[in-house]
Amino acid sequence: MVDFSLTEEQRDLREMAHDFAAKEIRPVAWEYDKHGTWPAAIIQKAWEVGLMNSQVPEAYGGAGACALDGCLIAEELAWGCAGIATTLEANGLASAPLLLGGSEKLKKEYLGRLIEAPLLASFCLTEPDAGSDVSGMRTTAVRHGDKWVINGSKVFITNGGYANWYTVYAKTDKDAGHRGISAFVVPADAGVIVEGHEDKMGLRASNTATIRFDDCEIPADHLLGEENHGFKLAMMTLDRTRPGVAAMATGIPRAALELAIDYAKQRVQFGVPIAMHEAIQFMIADMATGVEAARLLTWKSAVLLDQGRPNTLASSHAKRFAADTAMQVTTDAVQIYGGYGFIKEYPVEKLMRDAKIMQLYEGTSQIQRLVIARETLLPRRVEEPAAA
Ligand code: CAA
Repeated sequence: MVDFSLTEEQRDLREMAHDFAAKEIRPVAWEYDKHGTWPAAIIQKAWEVGLMNSQVPEAYGGAGACALDGCLIAEELAWGCAGIATTLEANGLASAPLLLGGSEKLKKEYLGRLIEAPLLASFCLTEPDAGSDVSGMRTTAVRHGDKWVINGSKVFITNGGYANWYTVYAKTDKDAGHRGISAFVVPADAGVIVEGHEDKMGLRASNTATIRFDDCEIPADHLLGEENHGFKLAMMTLDRTRPGVAAMATGIPRAALELAIDYAKQRVQFGVPIAMHEAIQFMIADMATGVEAARLLTWKSAVLLDQGRPNTLASSHAKRFAADTAMQVTTDAVQIYGGYGFIKEYPVEKLMRDAKIMQLYEGTSQIQRLVIARETLLPRRVEEPAAA
């Protein structure tokens, strides 16, 4: 049976996230975008009301929300502002490899930190010469007695300048390609160096930093999972987090669609509101279909995850389609606003700038197509629990 209805708790959660986005995020979003303001006060409030770290299991002090719950929150936050939403959501990306591969001791310590205080954690995978090609990374981790010593640089690290701890991928066997990568938890006070804050086209209220490790020493037990199994941990992490990105990439075009509808109803040309013109109606119709389809693909990818079933293909479908929809719909919203859409005083140009990153981070739209093509042409054989 297929049932698209949410439970009462999920509807309440979505309403709570929407109220938060409407009252705490929207009123400052355009101002924060203009000045690239770090949303410290919003992080504090979102953490207090439980809109951060929602998927940390109860065993580690979290709310134990499911992936679909996480997507409901992410869509609403990104409807408010995708930059602030990315800031609030990024702990989930850093936490996923810890949940998948961390010892009980590590999970209690580092997830506990996020629950006890409004702290941030960052996921460090990308390097100057290793973006889509993860196995091209050059950061190394070398075992010295009861420590790992990490050296190298990571770029485009969300919340990197403010993180309390990092999940870091490094080569532990330089000659073994993707089979020579391991993952670690690195506390900021282990000597992590923050080098720069990027001045970005969009998502301007989020922090994107370069992180350097110069003989950074961490205890041996901060390895996540098995040595040299980090690549798979990264891929499994992205399977789990791409639905949340797809949800944010649904919230942005939803905001653009709503604004375009309001504008089309009040802007008069040729004696009638432009919403009366078929050319605009057809654009609005396509925009609405895009948002609806993006949400359905997103929910499917999250529900498969919640059912413990493989979601690699579904999460790439969702992330690819929602990101491309965000770009198309925000571009169309600018078109409906006409010349005013190109002016910063009007709201839609920010949405178009914010949408672009959705096609880039957590795997470009081209990488999603690569995954979709591989999974479609040659599905990996994974043991699936029987469908309910
Ligand atoms: N789950 C489990 N295992 C997987 C897997 C998955 N989803 N996908 C691949 N694997 C396994 C394969 O089975 C294979 O296993 P074996 O070693 O046993 O053979 C191994 O991993 C290698 O797989 P591939 O041959 O498919 O690897 P590849 O080198 O061709 O890479 C890729 C595949 C899809 C291109 C991958 O590198 C990728 O996803 N790249 C994009 C990276 C990305 O998304 N970066 C974004 C970083 S996060 C971010 O954006 C930061 C932020 O702050 C928001």
